[in-house]
Amino acid sequence: MKKIIHITALLVVAYLMNSFVLRSGIMKNALPDKTVEQRVDSLLALMTLEEKIGQMTLFTSDWEMTGPTLRATYKEDIRKGRVGAIFNAHTAAYTKELQRLAVEETRLGIPLLFGYDVIHGYKTIFPIPLGESASWDLTAIEQGARVAAIEAAASGLHWTFAPMVDIARDPRWGRISEGAGEDTYLGSAIAVARVKGFQGTGFDNTDAVLACAKHYAAYGAAQAGRDYHTVDISEQVMREVYLPPFKAAADAGVWTFMNAFNEWNGIPATAHDYLLKDILKWEWAFPGFVVTDYTSINEMVPHGYASDYKHAGELSVNAGVDMDMQGAVYYNHLADLVREGKVKESRIDDAVRRILRMKFMLGLFEDPYRFSNAEREKRLIMAPEHLAAARDMARKSLVLLRNEKQLLPLPKTMKTLAVIGPLADSKVDMLGNWSAAGDAKDCVTLLEGIRTKLQGSTQIIYEKGCNVDGTDRTGFAKALAAAKKAQVILVAVGEAGWMSGEAASRTDISLPGVQEDLVKALIATGKPVVVVLMNGRPLTIPWIADNAPAILETWFAGTQGGHAISDVLFGDYNPSGKLPVTFPRNVGQIPLFYNPKNTGRPMNPNDKYTSKYLDAPNTPQWPFGFGLSYTTFEYSDLKTDKKEFDRNETVTISVKVANTGQYDGEETAQLYVRDLVGSVTRPVRELKGFQKVFLKKGESKVIQFKLRADDLRFYNADLQFRAEPGDFDLWVGSHSDATLGTRIVLTR
Ligand code: NOJ
Repeated sequence: MKKIIHITALLVVAYLMNSFVLRSGIMKNALPDKTVEQRVDSLLALMTLEEKIGQMTLFTSDWEMTGPTLRATYKEDIRKGRVGAIFNAHTAAYTKELQRLAVEETRLGIPLLFGYDVIHGYKTIFPIPLGESASWDLTAIEQGARVAAIEAAASGLHWTFAPMVDIARDPRWGRISEGAGEDTYLGSAIAVARVKGFQGTGFDNTDAVLACAKHYAAYGAAQAGRDYHTVDISEQVMREVYLPPFKAAADAGVWTFMNAFNEWNGIPATAHDYLLKDILKWEWAFPGFVVTDYTSINEMVPHGYASDYKHAGELSVNAGVDMDMQGAVYYNHLADLVREGKVKESRIDDAVRRILRMKFMLGLFEDPYRFSNAEREKRLIMAPEHLAAARDMARKSLVLLRNEKQLLPLPKTMKTLAVIGPLADSKVDMLGNWSAAGDAKDCVTLLEGIRTKLQGSTQIIYEKGCNVDGTDRTGFAKALAAAKKAQVILVAVGEAGWMSGEAASRTDISLPGVQEDLVKALIATGKPVVVVLMNGRPLTIPWIADNAPAILETWFAGTQGGHAISDVLFGDYNPSGKLPVTFPRNVGQIPLFYNPKNTGRPMNPNDKYTSKYLDAPNTPQWPFGFGLSYTTFEYSDLKTDKKEFDRNETVTISVKVANTGQYDGEETAQLYVRDLVGSVTRPVRELKGFQKVFLKKGESKVIQFKLRADDLRFYNADLQFRAEPGDFDLWVGSHSDATLGTRIVLTR
């Protein structure tokens, strides 16, 4: 009875205020022509402070948890209107069940927002993001995110905590696997592709989810590659290296941002006024909302930045953090902070406005269940076209690192093939980390892929040989016996899926356990050995790099991984992937990336007092941008249409690329630039463009790049973003050590 009186009173208020829906099912969108902003304002006017704070609160369901706190009371909290968003709850049925609590059992019936870490696929799992990035194929990457969004949206999700756009120059950091690698230009382009893929053309067709640019900012610059560690970098580096992918995501229309766990120069990102208010919300005019990374508000206490949770909440909300993920700090303390005058209610209104805007935009007030659709879920999840897209993306992500005497591709006519290694028949590792609702049993292993490909024509002898880690060598004997019977040996080694991702930093990034010894023993048989690597980060494998005749980097290739790798191994697909990250020779070289500064004493092998090591070269094992093909490409005739240009002109750079080998193939031509003298020093080279070009055997094409003064801007000592007149060297080629170059001059 009390409830009916409440509802009636609210309907009257809504009517009087010329407002609209309060409870789906009771009253539908009364004023459909009102703009979202007006609708948000109307609703806001009806909300109590506690209800507003509810909208700023995100809790995990009990299905999964990705951090230390689990709230057992989340269903009660939904009923009380004290939580506005839930994560780690998915499937049409479960999201409907929870949505019903919000819509039918709360005073205002405001629908919930459902979020989840849909990072590289929902159920159809694509290669890990670092692997996808190795394709340098923006269309395919966008398509990967599209498929993920279509599946996730059918299962009731509105929001993914992706893309991770953190630049990562330290392979010890496990989360390097989740991003686009070390380069800002490539990373920005990929950030845009992923945002476009997740958010599609909008939410009219329920085939899109809100994307989230994370982790803002510079999470990848953690000292010593240790997760959650301190970040201490100059503002120039922040603005030039780490922020551009976030800015690109914002410009592409990403609707949400997640703050990082780390501090920047002494202030945790969760309360960083300058990052959140000045840059994101003011300079970039970001209209969406900012969510914390898990309990990052609470973590400001151990950071030594807040005296207790309440203080931490005050700092973060005032800095512009709109939603508290799982920490329950806003839930417990925000109302008091407002009553005490430490937080203005206008700030709360701003945050709630940003959140409600999304719920209106998603159409949840018209139909709160529109995303949770069992029929669509059944029809779309793992649809044949999604599996085909995952296989295609996986093939494009593979990087051929070595291929002596054209050992690859292998003939399909071999009599016997040995397939060895702890990762050769592992389904779960194929998923990699952050595999959402992906199911290991749906994964095609390398062994299964090869068996399907060779269809009984070749005798395949499989032996695991050893585990990924540990010291057990008892499987070596059987592996060697199998190897001796075979014409060719394939050995799949690397990391287990869980060894990269969050909280998975390593100090030794060589092959874990006794795997390298297994590879050595197989190579010692004198038989041709193909090493198939599976890993979430660059590995240090100098011995294998020098001694294995063929090496294929496959990352964690996803649901269709085994098919995709087999397509490449047996020549049905000519590999075209290029490393999005440098592979060092040893951990001591880290951080090692292609675009450092030159120093005043650049390396000279004949001069001891230059910048180098006594015990290792400066050069990497494999440079950024590197990747072989079964064919060969040659670059020539590099020309610019002008030698001198000013800030209003565009330089056209042209180069001839020829396929000089025996296969049709795709090349990624890369343009690098060096600003020779600057008012602050500039990197030795910087990627400024890339193009994928498909060439039939014997074919050649002239391709063009355009360059303007704006592309040459950087932050000077006064933090002005400007290009400076002077000489610029250019190179075009197949990786970051390209040697075909010329010089141009920016005159003014
Ligand atoms: C912590 C991770 O850092 C973040 O990337 C993720 O989205 C959240 N947990 C939620 O799972």
